[in-house]
Amino acid sequence: RELLRGTGEAIGQHWLVSAGGTREPLDPVRFIGNRSSGKQGVEVALAAARHGANVTLLAANISQQILAPAQRDPRIRIVETPSAEDLEHAVREYGPDAGVIVMAAAVADYRTPQKSATKITKESADAPVLRLELVETPDILAGLVERRSAGQTLVGFAAETPSEGETLVQRAVAKRRRKGADLLAANEVGWSRGFEQDDNHLIVIDVDDEVVADVAGTKRETADALVAVILGHISAP
Ligand code: CTP
Ligand code: CA
Repeated sequence: RELLRGTGEAIGQHWLVSAGGTREPLDPVRFIGNRSSGKQGVEVALAAARHGANVTLLAANISQQILAPAQRDPRIRIVETPSAEDLEHAVREYGPDAGVIVMAAAVADYRTPQKSATKITKESADAPVLRLELVETPDILAGLVERRSAGQTLVGFAAETPSEGETLVQRAVAKRRRKGADLLAANEVGWSRGFEQDDNHLIVIDVDDEVVADVAGTKRETADALVAVILGHISAP
């Protein structure tokens, strides 16, 4: 209970939190994006700050309304990272000295190899089909695991749409292993689930494949639970 009120046990720690969803430009007016609003990631940054952490929040296309509480928090510094490439550069800059890194942002998996200098027009395509070539973006979290600084805690996020016959826990356990993160927070999403909502259902998996948190509540409550797990992990690694 103590933990949830904020005890200042993260004082002096630097936390790096990414939030929102990246946009990959196609041409000067268009992009490929995703539905992540940034609410859950911003709540993680606010929760860490309540415990006394100095937080760098990497914000990928988060609305002014959602970002406002973080802007008012003196413990939070905000760096805008609209694209996967911007986010990758910022993580390289701010990552090495962070004790905790939470990758809550939805990072694009693919981007165009070259963005067009001018608008893609219908004239230029072999209408009625437009073929886009996309290449994989680097996996930022995997890079962090590879270059991990001493004592660093790395936390991944996953928004999953489990198919029939598999559970969210199974998908989350598999993803944590694949990523090599210390902890993985996962929630189920769908057409009308998870995005832009105030409530969430979050589970957290640790390195022993255990479900160490299972919380349904507001995104503030689920963020508090995740931060409590992370603080526990730091004090008893
Ligand atoms: N992530 C990342 N860099 C990427 C893609 C994802 O750092 N290029 C991070 C996300 O921020 C998140 C975690 O990896 O913390 C899991 O993201 P997710 O999209 O669920 O995993 P993927 O490995 O991309 O798998 P999937 O095919 O399910 O999208
Ligand atoms: Ca992905």
